[in-house]
Amino acid sequence: MTTPRRATSTATDYDELVGRLDLASKVRLLTGRAMFTLWPEDSIGLGELRLSDGPTGVRGLKFSGGRIVALFPNATLLSAAWSEDSAYEVGQLLAEEALAQQLHVVLGPTINLHRSPLGGRLFEAYSEDPLLSGKLAAAYVRGLQGHGVGACLKHLVANESETERNTVNSVVDEATLRELYLLPFEIAVAEADPWSMMAAYNDVNGVAATEQHHVINEIVKGEWNWPGLVMSDWFATKTAAAAASGGLDLVMPGPRGPWGDALVAAVESGEVDEAVIDDHVGRLLRLADRAGALGEPRSCPADLPAPDSPARKEQLTRLAAAGMTVLINRDEVLPLRRGQRVALIGRHAIETIDMGGGSAQVNPPYQTSVAGGMMAALGDAVIVVDGVEVRSRPVPARVAFVTDPETGLPGVLAELYDVGGSLLERRPSQRGLVLAGFDDDLPARVARIVLRARVEGTGPTELGAMGTGDWTIRAGAETFGLALRPTGSGFGEEVLAPPAGSRVISLAGPTVVEAVSDIPPPGGDGSSPLRRVSVAGLIARPAPRDPAEVLAAAVAAARTADVAVVVVGLTEEQETESVDKTTLRLPGQQDDLVRAVAAAAERTVVVVNAATPVLMPWRDEVDAVVWAGLPGQEGGHAVAAALLGDIEPAGRLVTTFPADDNAAPAWSVTPVSGDLSYAEGPYIGYRGYHAGRAPAPAFWFGHGLGYASWDYGEPALVAGVAPPAVAVTVTNTGSRASREVVQVYLEPAAAGQPVRLVGWQAVDAAAGQSVPVEVRTEPRLWRRWDIQSGQWTRLPAGGRLLIARGLGDVRGVIDLAARQLQDPA
Ligand code: BGC
Repeated sequence: MTTPRRATSTATDYDELVGRLDLASKVRLLTGRAMFTLWPEDSIGLGELRLSDGPTGVRGLKFSGGRIVALFPNATLLSAAWSEDSAYEVGQLLAEEALAQQLHVVLGPTINLHRSPLGGRLFEAYSEDPLLSGKLAAAYVRGLQGHGVGACLKHLVANESETERNTVNSVVDEATLRELYLLPFEIAVAEADPWSMMAAYNDVNGVAATEQHHVINEIVKGEWNWPGLVMSDWFATKTAAAAASGGLDLVMPGPRGPWGDALVAAVESGEVDEAVIDDHVGRLLRLADRAGALGEPRSCPADLPAPDSPARKEQLTRLAAAGMTVLINRDEVLPLRRGQRVALIGRHAIETIDMGGGSAQVNPPYQTSVAGGMMAALGDAVIVVDGVEVRSRPVPARVAFVTDPETGLPGVLAELYDVGGSLLERRPSQRGLVLAGFDDDLPARVARIVLRARVEGTGPTELGAMGTGDWTIRAGAETFGLALRPTGSGFGEEVLAPPAGSRVISLAGPTVVEAVSDIPPPGGDGSSPLRRVSVAGLIARPAPRDPAEVLAAAVAAARTADVAVVVVGLTEEQETESVDKTTLRLPGQQDDLVRAVAAAAERTVVVVNAATPVLMPWRDEVDAVVWAGLPGQEGGHAVAAALLGDIEPAGRLVTTFPADDNAAPAWSVTPVSGDLSYAEGPYIGYRGYHAGRAPAPAFWFGHGLGYASWDYGEPALVAGVAPPAVAVTVTNTGSRASREVVQVYLEPAAAGQPVRLVGWQAVDAAAGQSVPVEVRTEPRLWRRWDIQSGQWTRLPAGGRLLIARGLGDVRGVIDLAARQLQDPA
């Protein structure tokens, strides 16, 4: 792809442009124009800046029902490749997807850390480790911005869980904040100069993240001297003067919001200095300039691959498979051999989850299940058997099961009416779900939604609806009502986890189903845009079967095969924005399913279709386990390629998998009186397990077997390099070419300083080949924040370097005792 041309080749004088605007015009620019766009200002050549969500695809300007775009593997699956090159490639591909839509900024990467494994949104964020997160973020930002599209690091800061997410106060000591939670932001700023960041929903130590003078003004814009723009998370800004003076540059979304006239008044009364406003506008102009929305509009390349092009298929399959991680592989049961008879079992094999829930969702051109991928690769050698239920709530009707009764196309037809009964819009939906009044500019509040679909199944069928409202469901001669009310308290919960109800009805044949929702009038004065938003979904699917019957069918299939592959996992009920998990147990009776199959099959391979840790109480009873993340639109093909070894699943875990619930150094995500205490300090993830603050995990951060085995030579320090670098020779003792990730951890001598990853280096080697590897270490991990002096200080001399394949498999030790360590950067 050719890089888009920048709008201005000579340095633009932002102060001069700002000086041409009066106060009201300046303040107007500082709140969005709509959900994902900013105001243009012709008088200074400022065009409309256009933003889009981004972690797993560039969704575009609409939150739901938008254009068809490529769905990438999720963040943890991408990061499990431990590859800056892959992260760069992802950034570049996202830039292409953005440029094809004339977008200027992609709202990613998410670089909050995996503090507690219960965090519902960890699937969007890279890792529990700040170095891995920071380095990958920097590479992603370089890939994105190097091709003319802005990045937005999010969410600044201490935003690691979702419970009470709009109000929670994260209580974090200053050393932990800097050494851990700010570190990925700091590394990305230093190495890639991201053009924007997003201030989080939560408070940090009693101050809203959108008003964080200390974090935004003092640290990020001050100490780091970062010239970019800070925007608020969506609807997060609560105040005018405090937020504007606290360093927030832009309120999102718009056009309503707490700034506008209130901020103009605050400047006129002297409460906010006009220089503060000028600085915000200057930063906005710099972002626009960099992204090609100031001055002459940028020209976008015309040669961009379509979301379903062969180029995208190859890229997305390769990126997904490379991050998949082999956790167990007894007797080299993997890779599967062509010619083996495979029983492929599980609901996740048929309805593979390829993305998490919430603002990361996109509208992909197609989705590929593991069953589809395996059958494409192995044909008749695979038999596919459904598994036990994996959800506790019904989901909107899947396209294969319902068609629009008027066009016959897959999906549901929605009609939206105002309070007087006039039709506002007819909207076909492939997802069985509509979001009304959010980003569609409807002229009035939607008071009634009618959903219609032809249900193709026969026999016992679950029918129902989701979304707040008084529903009437009609299917042939059957009619029933549902009064659905919100389960949670906030906007996020009502939209992302809407209330649902259903019944089982026996259908004699294909039947047109109609679901009518009368939506209660909004509370409050109705002026908030959120009060006009409604979600409505049609539930239609074959009625759940008796679990005993399902297990018996799985066991019977397993007995006839050479190898049983059971696909288990989580769904968007667990891995979503706005909701945290309460357990790491697999939902439903999936553990029973694995055990039953393992007892019956000759060989059992388990594929875990989840982005984050799950418990595997059966892990000693099966032959192999592969963690497959949420693999994106090519997911099924990627799983098949990984299981067959066509692409090595060379991933290493990016987060530690606990052995049990509550057996992690940081667990609870439930605030107490509004406070969520980060009381474990810097001891999250492997840092805490290594210090004995939790029982030994099931699988360590950094663990991953690939399809080879490795010998390590004696490690040594590289002479004359500061901070220390490690040289070690690794030998591929397996029978296939493979990729090894040599990890170096520092175990400091100082009390209160946990072990930490200080560097890694990946290397490819043919079977039998020995390769010398040099691992440089990151200077920022050799320092600590001294609370007394309020400064960085170097760690005292001493400690050890551990050369490891995850801390459960340490292959070499270098004793640093008595060595004089170098000054931190
Ligand atoms: C999320 C952000 C996202 C924004 C816009 C918020 O709910 O927290 O990550 O970028 O919505 O969709």
